[in-house]
Amino acid sequence: MTLLDPVAPATLFTHPDRNLGMELVRATEAAAIRSAPWIGRGEKNLADGAAVDAMRKFLGTVDFDGVVVIGEGEKDHAPMLFNGEHVGTGNGPSCDIAVDPIDGTSLTAAGRMNALSVIAVSDRGSMYDPSAVFYMDKIVTGPEGRGLIDLDLPIGENIRRLADAKGVTVGDIVVAVLDRPRHAGLIADIRAAGAGTRLLLDGDVAGGINAARPDSRIDMCVGVGGTPEGIITACAVKALGGVIQGRLKPKDDEERQKALDAGHDLDRILDQDDLVTGDNTYFVATGVTDGALVAGVQRSNGMIRTESLILRSHSGTQRRVIADHLESKWYGED
Ligand code: FBP
Repeated sequence: MTLLDPVAPATLFTHPDRNLGMELVRATEAAAIRSAPWIGRGEKNLADGAAVDAMRKFLGTVDFDGVVVIGEGEKDHAPMLFNGEHVGTGNGPSCDIAVDPIDGTSLTAAGRMNALSVIAVSDRGSMYDPSAVFYMDKIVTGPEGRGLIDLDLPIGENIRRLADAKGVTVGDIVVAVLDRPRHAGLIADIRAAGAGTRLLLDGDVAGGINAARPDSRIDMCVGVGGTPEGIITACAVKALGGVIQGRLKPKDDEERQKALDAGHDLDRILDQDDLVTGDNTYFVATGVTDGALVAGVQRSNGMIRTESLILRSHSGTQRRVIADHLESKWYGED
């Protein structure tokens, strides 16, 4: 094929269509902008509240019929963006939506790096329902790990397989892990295998996406983190051609029983196609604080700059959007 050959009958060029992510990004931008004044103020609920409120307002302008599958909890405990809530104008495609108005609320409150505002969308009925099992054991890599990595293998073997597939030495591999006491053994095993660790204070959505995307310093993200974050990561991983495997990890007997009653097989390894079925996912994220994935909200000379990532699985398009917003339009009187 040369670039001048006639195009095949069914390319994105012959059939251009809408990229919902281009509109959804306004909602993550709004959430990041409105939560930014709370960075470093020690008020994680106020930061999250500002992000939720702004995200909801902007989702209301987008032509789609979204049902929140992964939200801020149940209706009675969350004033908005609760599971089951309808968002969007109601016109347009029927979708499932997962929201994390801030992944890294504690990072934001402390003024630390790597907090993101995130939305993931897919066709209605395609997102996995974790039935309130909060944690999942996960492993994420880029395309090189497909068909090779396996959550059931020792971490050292997964690292060796990925290093071989990437054509690098084990010593070149960097593995991101949430810095938690529960991961002490895992961290020791990664280092014993000869790889390096990148310990995350919080935010394994950014960790997972950095593992899956090219040009990042992270090769793999592993460990136990949020199940909602796993489903959101799966939407991004599908667009990046990477791999995620996860297994539900109930935190106590009550959660375990709930999961069994809901029909979950707790031994089952779920991959990106189990966590989100089909090939029509969108992932959008805007930086709240600076991070390896995107820059955080910056204010200067009456302007606010945001940086966002928009991923779409159907086309495989990865976009970075830098936007300058007039500060006077965003803060001040409501
Ligand atoms: P929130 O900011 O949404 O609370 O999540 C932060 C986070 O670090 C996630 O990225 C991660 O999946 C989860 O919390 C890990 O949970 P825990 O802090 O209980 O280990």
